[in-house]
Amino acid sequence: MEVNKAVIVTGAGSGIGKATAKKFASKGFNVVLNGRTKSKLEAVSKEINASNTLIVAGDVSKPADVKQLVESTISKFKTIDILVNNAAIFVGGTIDKVSLEDWNKQLEVNVTGPYLMIKETLPYLEKSKGNIVNVCSVSGLGGDWNAFAYDSTKGAIQLMTKALALDFAAKEIRINAVAPSLTDTDMGEGAMDDEEVMKEFKKRIAMGRAAKPEEIADVIAFLASEEARFVTGTILPVDGGLSASNGQPKL
Ligand SMILES: NC(=O)c1ccc[n+]([C@@H]2O[C@H](COP(=O)([O-])OP(=O)(O)OC[C@H]3O[C@@H](n4cnc5c(N)ncnc54)[C@H](OP(=O)(O)O)[C@@H]3O)[C@@H](O)[C@H]2O)c1
Repeated sequence: MEVNKAVIVTGAGSGIGKATAKKFASKGFNVVLNGRTKSKLEAVSKEINASNTLIVAGDVSKPADVKQLVESTISKFKTIDILVNNAAIFVGGTIDKVSLEDWNKQLEVNVTGPYLMIKETLPYLEKSKGNIVNVCSVSGLGGDWNAFAYDSTKGAIQLMTKALALDFAAKEIRINAVAPSLTDTDMGEGAMDDEEVMKEFKKRIAMGRAAKPEEIADVIAFLASEEARFVTGTILPVDGGLSASNGQPKL
């Protein structure tokens, strides 16, 4: 069991973030729950041992919110050992349909958010010899139809992961990422509720189903653990074999 270690999970009010927060709590970590909706975070905190959690509602794309998140964490737990950059939004549509405002929002949350979080936590991660796990997506490994804006942000965060891993290896800060495929969460529900779309997904995911959020959380916890101490700059697909295919149909 980990004692006196703190992890910040952004987007912890639902889906992969919630499963990740619960996973770290089960390992003994103090868990800082961030997201924009306080009531969702309070519900998650209730499921965990509330005395080991800190709720800091806020928007990861706003510098003042990020500063407050980090300051509150240090004030309560005195350390930051792990940062999980999980919060993100999905804006679909082809380029003719996506407004500049929506494009900017997508970049602000999915790319500027992790940038701000990493910049603000780095001094503390340097002290703790901690590490970062970014939640990317198979949508950053290759393109999707109708999702160029989301895909652009997930591609950016993957190269951010690799480049920062190079910059901070000498300071013993590891930076890795997971790349999930379709996962059973609020974000995934549009696809999961559509029988025709699911039929197509099942053809492409070798294991024939969507992931459960806990299956992503387990891999995040592994990458953040001592077991992965010589792993940095890795984008680990957690995709039931989706990225094992070259894209050709079943012959
Ligand atoms: N589900 C999938 O199929 C799938 C596949 C691959 C990768 N992913 C990635 O997995 C991660 C988690 O997504 P999920 O599937 O678990 O979806 P989700 O349930 O919608 O979780 C996203 C969370 O992020 C929070 N959030 C959104 N904008 C925020 C902001 N500006 N600041 C702080 N928190 C914010 C949301 O809560 P509030 O609205 O209350 O802020 C929400 O709880 C994302 O990075 C996503 O891109 C998902």
